[in-house]
Amino acid sequence: MSALFSPYTLKDVSLRNRIAVPPMCQYSAVDGFTNDWHQTHYSSIARGGAGLVIVEATAVSPEGRITPACTGLWNDAQAEGMARIAASIKAAGSVPGIQIGHAGRKASAHRPWEGDDHIADGDPRGWDTLSPSAIAFGANLPKVPKAMTLDDIARVKADFVAAAKRARDAGFEWLELHFAHGYLAQSFFSTHANQRDDQYGGDFKGRSRFLLETLAAVRDVWPENLPLTARFGVIEYDGRDEQTLDESIELAKAFRRGGLDMLGVSVGFSTPAANIPWGPAFLAPIAERVRREAELPVSSAWGIDSPPICERTIAEGQMDLVMVGRAHLANPHWPYHAALELKQTRPSWVLPAPYAHWLERYAVSQ
Ligand SMILES: Cc1cc2nc3c(=O)[nH]c(=O)nc-3n(C[C@H](O)[C@H](O)[C@H](O)COP(=O)(O)O)c2cc1C
Repeated sequence: MSALFSPYTLKDVSLRNRIAVPPMCQYSAVDGFTNDWHQTHYSSIARGGAGLVIVEATAVSPEGRITPACTGLWNDAQAEGMARIAASIKAAGSVPGIQIGHAGRKASAHRPWEGDDHIADGDPRGWDTLSPSAIAFGANLPKVPKAMTLDDIARVKADFVAAAKRARDAGFEWLELHFAHGYLAQSFFSTHANQRDDQYGGDFKGRSRFLLETLAAVRDVWPENLPLTARFGVIEYDGRDEQTLDESIELAKAFRRGGLDMLGVSVGFSTPAANIPWGPAFLAPIAERVRREAELPVSSAWGIDSPPICERTIAEGQMDLVMVGRAHLANPHWPYHAALELKQTRPSWVLPAPYAHWLERYAVSQ
């Protein structure tokens, strides 16, 4: 039996296999609202067989969007479209998840295919950004953010809580807090972005505070029996990696004590000066270390998308779930083809009945 196609249970939620679709922004929303693009995209991917489909980074407030075309959950009307998406993912036999976040100093950018850079000051499509300190990311994102006041911090935490409640009421069964990729929460942890001298900056404890308080506040409203996870950049590849990893593992332990059920191990992306060793499954050994030392289930991504590599990372206990991203954009039926490649000739383990019935015969005849 393939490890990749073995079921997985976390809290009261069972996945049909270890394949998860990570959040991937579609940059196709208007005023934070989803539309037919999102509906079709997410239901197609869920029908393809992944055990878990996590809807893209969805902003907890308008200024928390990466681009003007990002989805939001800052009002109840937006939650109605999200509820239809959650229902269609579930109807396809997959577990509906959603990532909520705030883009911090990387917000107010053009869509990737329209430049991926900050919208110029004065352009009415853009807005003022927030971050722990008034330090720009740099490179293509030069806009200097406003250093958050304590009131700003309290408001953004409350926005996370309100969005989590809407996600819960919309029928999502898996919540991921976006604590990664140089966005607001990662910026609080990062010395590249956080130069505060109050209780939200400075030492490890200060730089962890926003993340732990946000987790605690969301934990209070997210159902106890459903997974609450976070994606977090445990390493920056900025030359200080051992120190960052040690601190990240300490934070992961604190997350576990705070009620987090799984950590999505990723890269910090807090500085354009990072030197990232891109390559197939380059994060897998790091995910394994976090999993072992923090004693927390983990998922991971970035080039973990060939069936043999996916199989190995699960079989060897490097991670509990593989996040297969771009390969799903290229082929929503990626799990079916992975099952064939791994000689799992029972597509019914992967696919909903209207596909599985026919493909099972087809697979056996191949
Ligand atoms: C189009 C696109 C949008 C993305 N949006 C998000 C996002 O909303 N949240 C997030 O945490 N990561 C996002 N990512 C990163 C992916 O979740 C994933 O980590 C990345 O694609 C690497 O996995 P892969 O090699 O399997 O594609 C995005 C990636 C792509 C290609």
